[in-house]
Amino acid sequence: MKVLAVASECAPLVKTGGLADVVGALPKALAPHDVEIRTLLPAYAALVGVKAGKRTALGTLFGGEAAVVEATADDLDLLLLDAPHLFDRPGNPYLDETGADWPDNHLRFGGLCQAAAALAREGLDGWRPDVVHAHDWQAGLVPAYLRLGEGATPPTVVTIHNIAFQGLFSPVTIGDLGLPSSAFTAADGFEYYNQISFLKAGLVFADRLTTVSPSYARELMTPEFGMGLHGVLASRAGDLVGILNGVDTAVWDPQTDGDLAATYSGRARKGKAVNKAELERRFDLPMRPDGPLFCVVSRLTRQKGIDVLLEAIPRLVARGARLAVLGSGDADLEAGIRYATTTYPEQVSAVIGYDEPLSHLMQGGADAILIPSRFEPCGLTQLYGLRYGTIPVVARTGGLADTVIDANDAAMIAGCATGFQFAPVTPEALGDAIERVCDLHADQTAWRAMVGRAMRHPVGWDHAAHAYATLYRSLTATTTP
Ligand code: ADP
Ligand code: GLC
Repeated sequence: MKVLAVASECAPLVKTGGLADVVGALPKALAPHDVEIRTLLPAYAALVGVKAGKRTALGTLFGGEAAVVEATADDLDLLLLDAPHLFDRPGNPYLDETGADWPDNHLRFGGLCQAAAALAREGLDGWRPDVVHAHDWQAGLVPAYLRLGEGATPPTVVTIHNIAFQGLFSPVTIGDLGLPSSAFTAADGFEYYNQISFLKAGLVFADRLTTVSPSYARELMTPEFGMGLHGVLASRAGDLVGILNGVDTAVWDPQTDGDLAATYSGRARKGKAVNKAELERRFDLPMRPDGPLFCVVSRLTRQKGIDVLLEAIPRLVARGARLAVLGSGDADLEAGIRYATTTYPEQVSAVIGYDEPLSHLMQGGADAILIPSRFEPCGLTQLYGLRYGTIPVVARTGGLADTVIDANDAAMIAGCATGFQFAPVTPEALGDAIERVCDLHADQTAWRAMVGRAMRHPVGWDHAAHAYATLYRSLTATTTP
């Protein structure tokens, strides 16, 4: 089974969030299932160091020459779309140096989709994909180019990692993108309230749709979570499945993690205390024997409930707990976090920025991780928390609800709780959850038992890999070329 994956990010090469982790982990997870994935990525300037192989010219792509370069990195089989006029730019995949979207993002990611469609139809040196798997809006036009073009095409899967990002552009770009204006309709085309939506194009024209947790799959079909696309998704309910993400257990392993001050395992956890001391040192937080050390590793946005967190900090502090935050995002929320650090310098500390190694140390050293998201398609940091014995405290939504077993009475009596869930996403409910964490932490025997259970909870890709392999096979069995 050969699969062409199409995405705008892929860890460890280029990452702004969980999408990259998933795109980077799936090929390794699916290899044992006899699925060979080649991943098409833009050749961003940041990828210069990647070991490049054969180059195949694609001709002109939206105003400049383009080629596909075969490359390997970290066991990944990559196809890099070399189109310097679109991708040879510094920094973030989507934003210029001022933090604004690149004005030609429709052509940049439309170009990625057109190149993917060409590879899907024509193959590369005799390699032809049996299935094309497009991730998020940046790859959303792939099914549209294939379905609206001529001739036979392989079946397509679109995965929604976050429906809040839809790839919306002015309809004046339809011609530039080489799309037929006849498909600019709301009912069965890619129109979304008078704009082109790349994501909607994917949802309408793909053979199958997936998202990254079963709960989010259900939520997406409701007005509250569907962000205007709930009707489209409900109409395709039979083709939509939620497959829970896993984590790359080789990269995220407290027994081998080189970013930790000390490694540890579920059975021998002494190293966790060493990491906690190092975390306190890095965040300049005085050591305290009482009260848990909470952490947050997150984009600082409203999706992630950071405004709610800010309002709950006084209760956290009143209980003698401490908080270390790593993140960046909205300016007002960054300012709010900074303000909390100056108000409670002994108990709240933050690093505003993006720091992959530090994110590992935080999972290794904190007692608990707070994730008060308003919506969360899957979420990965709670899975890292489980694996590192850093108890997840999560909003009961999407993939957070699907991965953490709340410490309610039934789960505590049965001895299966792995964390804390709360709802609704309000400062009061989050504050109550923080209090519950502090209460359990005060009972060190019960706390240690929960840490052990969290660390034993399976968070790898086995389950999801099987589900993706089955999905791909079902498509090749039913689709006639
Ligand atoms: P999302 O993709 O919505 O941001 P996820 O939980 O799926 O949320 O994935 C976030 C990923 O980005 C995780 O791997 C997390 O550790 C990482 N991350 C988020 N913020 C930071 C940061 N400031 N520094 C380092 N890693 C971060
Ligand atoms: C998105 C979602 C996040 C999910 C990630 C990987 O970034 O916001 O919840 O874990 O994609 O699928």
